[in-house]
Amino acid sequence: MAAFGTKEGMAEARKRGFFITFEGGDGVGKTTQIKLLAKALKNEGHRVFVTREPGGTPTGEVLRKLFKTQNMSPVTELMVLEASRAELCENVLKPRLQKGEIILCDRFAESSLVYQGAVRGLPLKMVGAANQIATQGLKADFIILLDATTKDFASRLKTKSKKDRLDQAGMSFHEKVRKAFRKLAKADRRFRAYSANLDRQEIHAQILKDVQKVLKRHA
Ligand code: TMP
Repeated sequence: MAAFGTKEGMAEARKRGFFITFEGGDGVGKTTQIKLLAKALKNEGHRVFVTREPGGTPTGEVLRKLFKTQNMSPVTELMVLEASRAELCENVLKPRLQKGEIILCDRFAESSLVYQGAVRGLPLKMVGAANQIATQGLKADFIILLDATTKDFASRLKTKSKKDRLDQAGMSFHEKVRKAFRKLAKADRRFRAYSANLDRQEIHAQILKDVQKVLKRHA
């Protein structure tokens, strides 16, 4: 079997399983859509595994807490997030993709390009290089972007009882995040954008239809 990190190893991992990531601003309903999609795919007989970033491993969850509660410079943020990503790729994504599972991941490398790159201002080349080190070339096969307006974000936030430092960032921060994701999505064919303003069952139906299509092509 080809080693993880080599071109052959990653191609092998990708060929067998399928890696879907969910991206978008904070509070756009990713968790709900991941749950609905996981359930639907399981009902169709697929082996599905759900995970998240930052987090998804014991070390990653510790790093997630650190990231969410401490103020840190953009470079420190990037290092913490990439450390979490490296753990997830090595210990969860690689073995599960090799076993042929469908992975649904709440955020991945594209979040770093948007948050640490486009929004916090780190050069995109630097973020891309850090992503490459952490992922060793593993990329999402299909990226679901949930796109919500800033107004939507504000109303969702009102209903959230425990707000973290990121929830407390201003509206202009969230507008920048939204714009950066939309720009990234336009330039990358793996992205498919869905309006998060629709009814959640309606969004789910659209996502499921597209996922069924890409899975058929992948089979
Ligand atoms: P969430 O799990 O509620 O989406 O929170 C994760 C937060 O971490 C969210 O505000 C986005 C942020 N984040 C980054 O800034 N860069 C990254 O690479 C990732 C994965 C998350």
